[in-house]
Amino acid sequence: MVTHRIALIPGDGIGQEVTPAASRVLEAVGARHGISFSYDEFDWSCARYAEQDAMMPADGLDRIRHHDAVLLGAVGDPSVPDHVSLWGLLIPIRRSFRQYVNLRPVKVFDGVESPVRGAGAMDLVVVRENVEGEYSEVGGRFGRGFAEEMAVQESVFTRAGVERIADYAFRLAGRRRGHVTSATKSNGIVHTMPFWDEVVAEKALSFPDVTLHSEHIDALCAKVVLDPARFDVIVGSNLFGDILSDLTAAVAGSIGIAPSANINPERDFPSMFEPVHGSAPDIAGKGVANPLGAIWTAALMLDHLGHPDAAAEVERAIADVLATTPIRTPDLGGTASTGEFTSAVLDSLR
Ligand code: NAD
Ligand code: IPM
Ligand code: MN
Repeated sequence: MVTHRIALIPGDGIGQEVTPAASRVLEAVGARHGISFSYDEFDWSCARYAEQDAMMPADGLDRIRHHDAVLLGAVGDPSVPDHVSLWGLLIPIRRSFRQYVNLRPVKVFDGVESPVRGAGAMDLVVVRENVEGEYSEVGGRFGRGFAEEMAVQESVFTRAGVERIADYAFRLAGRRRGHVTSATKSNGIVHTMPFWDEVVAEKALSFPDVTLHSEHIDALCAKVVLDPARFDVIVGSNLFGDILSDLTAAVAGSIGIAPSANINPERDFPSMFEPVHGSAPDIAGKGVANPLGAIWTAALMLDHLGHPDAAAEVERAIADVLATTPIRTPDLGGTASTGEFTSAVLDSLR
């Protein structure tokens, strides 16, 4: 029996509803594979911010840096400005723990109707640069109260940062269908993107068996909707990857199904696993949130922790419920609750 120490941060809104679904599935699949989980739960959230004026304690990162992984629900509540809640919790974890790869797989499951015609064969992974790019800390808001008031934020792309995310994308594509699409915007306006293109193209030379196409982000968004099945691995900057991951999830039926893994490939700090979606204040507390994204996220965590068979079993159980039963949450056109969908996955695992 192997035991993994997991830092559990349910967070806000539906984060509180979908993380229990993920941990129930982990318990069940773990029991079959000789894996157990020891959770330390942290109440870091906007509710904590309301009481203590901080999303997490000052030594928060130290408290979780020796865990095997972080499992997070979602962060954000209308009562706290998003830039406060996110820079106070989510972003510091991604950066301090050097989780520079954000993996966001998406596919159309049998039994799920995509809003897009012909999307049935879509099966792709967005590889999002996760610590630099447009989400930089260089800049700020200046001149509050003056007519000249402005906000400035410099995009920061480093050679090392682009090389390592491109490297990850090419290696991943080599284990999949051998095709990388690079999201760019190099047509003259954005200075950083010709640099991104150059570094990605240089990296491609080391992977002769993988093909590379660059697409401008605007046209790429259209192609992802019009012909989603053609994509294998899409590598993008922090902001482009963020937008592409909600878009591809929606093409696959709902943003409630998409998982994500914030990976520290060197493993000198824990990686963090969280669904792509946010805290969804509009449906929070109703018990109708789709737990699929969180459950699939748990599978990504199992894979990262060295349990690919257990991970595959969870993915099979999700696929089985969708293919063989009408059980699905309202975002996918069903009437099931979060708990009912989770129970169906647990039944399928048995
Ligand atoms: P959101 O993802 O929370 O919601 C967008 C829409 O999708 C909503 O209509 C919501 O009901 C629906 N939705 C999302 N997840 C769903 C699920 N599992 N099942 C069914 N429907 C689902 O995005 P938003 O509204 O832009 O953001 C809300 C808050 O979440 C903000 O505070 C934002 O900053 C935060 N946020 C946090 C994260 C994170 O913690 N990683 C990610 C995105 C947004
Ligand atoms: C995500 C979210 C975050 C991001 C926000 C909430 C900061 O949208 O994880 O996709 O943009 O990284
Ligand atoms: Mn996002």
